[in-house]
Amino acid sequence: MSTRLTLRHALTAIGAATALSAALVGASPAATAAAPAAPAPTVAAAPDIPVANVKAHLSQLQSIATANSGNRAHGRPGYKASVDYVKGKLDAAGYTTTLQQFTSSGATGWNLIADWPGGDANHVVMSGAHLDSVTAGPGINDDGSGTAGTLEVALAVSRAGLQPTKHLRFGWFGAEELGMIGSKYYVNNLPSAERSKIDAYLNFDMIGSPNPGYFVYDDNAPLETVFKDFFATKGIPTEIETEGDGRSDHAPFKSAGVPVGGLFSGADYIKTAAQAQKWGGTSGQAFDACYHRSCDTYANLNDSALDNNSDAIAYAVWNLSTGTTTPPSGTVFENTADVTIPDAGAAVTSSVTVSGVAGNAPSALQVGVNIVHTYRGDLVIDLVAPDGSTYRLKNSSGSDSADNVNTTYTVNASSEVANGVWKLKVQDVASADTGYLNSWKLTF
Ligand code: TRP
Ligand code: ZN
Ligand code: CA
Repeated sequence: MSTRLTLRHALTAIGAATALSAALVGASPAATAAAPAAPAPTVAAAPDIPVANVKAHLSQLQSIATANSGNRAHGRPGYKASVDYVKGKLDAAGYTTTLQQFTSSGATGWNLIADWPGGDANHVVMSGAHLDSVTAGPGINDDGSGTAGTLEVALAVSRAGLQPTKHLRFGWFGAEELGMIGSKYYVNNLPSAERSKIDAYLNFDMIGSPNPGYFVYDDNAPLETVFKDFFATKGIPTEIETEGDGRSDHAPFKSAGVPVGGLFSGADYIKTAAQAQKWGGTSGQAFDACYHRSCDTYANLNDSALDNNSDAIAYAVWNLSTGTTTPPSGTVFENTADVTIPDAGAAVTSSVTVSGVAGNAPSALQVGVNIVHTYRGDLVIDLVAPDGSTYRLKNSSGSDSADNVNTTYTVNASSEVANGVWKLKVQDVASADTGYLNSWKLTF
């Protein structure tokens, strides 16, 4: 150690070691020198929703109507019983549920909102259906079908233990049949800051029509595309939904500027010969001859439509919430706060929070480290993953007397979940020379 430098660095601008917020500074062109291949978008595969489960919910809704004067309408006891049934399933599955009470036509109504814990609260994917029937009947296709399909997808999220990048919310609205009263109330009472966090609202009102068509809302092209892609893989032709645009709970969301999408299997419009040709069923008859009638019962369903549409809901929920192309490959997460490294002392750390990256970290994670320090052989540097796993970047060396570390290390971090708090740990293991961590960054 006789060659040890004793020159002391004039340390300037040593900041508080606790200012550890990470900055997302955008794509780094500098990182393209040895550009790692863009990681494949890690969209979790959506499950096949068991239509028997969807039908079991519909059977329960039918029983509720039967026990309550034959309907589940706003202001009637069958409505609250329907709310209680859906809420019970969601609570048992780990959802955070909220009942939002409102008054309409002199009667109390409720919206049921269910949040799946986790995901980026600034990016919400919401799916919904109306939970009320008309007074004329039990409303099993309108809209028990959308209620049950959405519920079963929410339960599938729980069964899968899905950890979506975005935040998932589900809603069952009251008094739709009185003019979208519940969904208007929900949207009007959302603070505008919360409204703007909803990236998509997907509406499912009538998805099991007995003489079905496959109609996709065309209000927002990217959301329309998600559904069309799903049906294309199934070989099922679709048409644009035109039977009364704006006649369901997506309308208030759309009016408030939220991108909307959805599915519809038809109400009282008549199936044409061309439509019967491509979808089967009976031309010259309504898609749902029992629309808003007492015969909209458990018998008023097409199981294939219910099955395909429920699978489509799952596909959309999974794809819109787990898949991400943001941030693009090359995005940098950086901490530029200075951290003093005590001479021959304890290790110090600096944090960088990674968010919005689906799945695991790359196999060639770039770790840029800038340390101002005399005799850098004193330093031991580790990268600590969010789960605490440690990756040694640099060992100490009695013979490396050069100043400073300004290096990019490549770490195979593919077994680590990308999102979370990453730390750089630096320890000075020999006395005399000192310095500070100037900045460090992760490039995905
Ligand atoms: N919302 C309507 C109802 O409950 C049904 C309906 C008619 C519909 N046309 C639609 C739903 C178009 C969605 C899209 O009576
Ligand atoms: Zn409806
Ligand atoms: Ca030292």
